[in-house]
Amino acid sequence: MPKVTFLPMNTVCEAKAGESILDVAIQNDVPLQHACGGFCACTTCHVIVVEGAQNLAPMEEAEEERIEHADGVGLQSRLGCQAQVRGDVTVQVVNQGY
Ligand code: FES
Repeated sequence: MPKVTFLPMNTVCEAKAGESILDVAIQNDVPLQHACGGFCACTTCHVIVVEGAQNLAPMEEAEEERIEHADGVGLQSRLGCQAQVRGDVTVQVVNQGY
């Protein structure tokens, strides 16, 4: 199973096929904010991919448009609720909380 490592807490979790980074965080009590409930309507689930960007499903148009509004957005930014996990990945949580 693919593994997601969340920083800065350094929590390593297993992901099932088709799960998003946010799905994995919620199931493992990792504090990753998700104000809109995972519907690509906020930016609180913003994560910065440290390793394994190629192991995430490519960004679709809705995520591209939404993530531009995230504080501190950069080339390695993804929305946790939209990024499906396909292999091992390490992400930095920007907004910690539940
Ligand atoms: S939880 Fe709102 S965009 Fe991801």
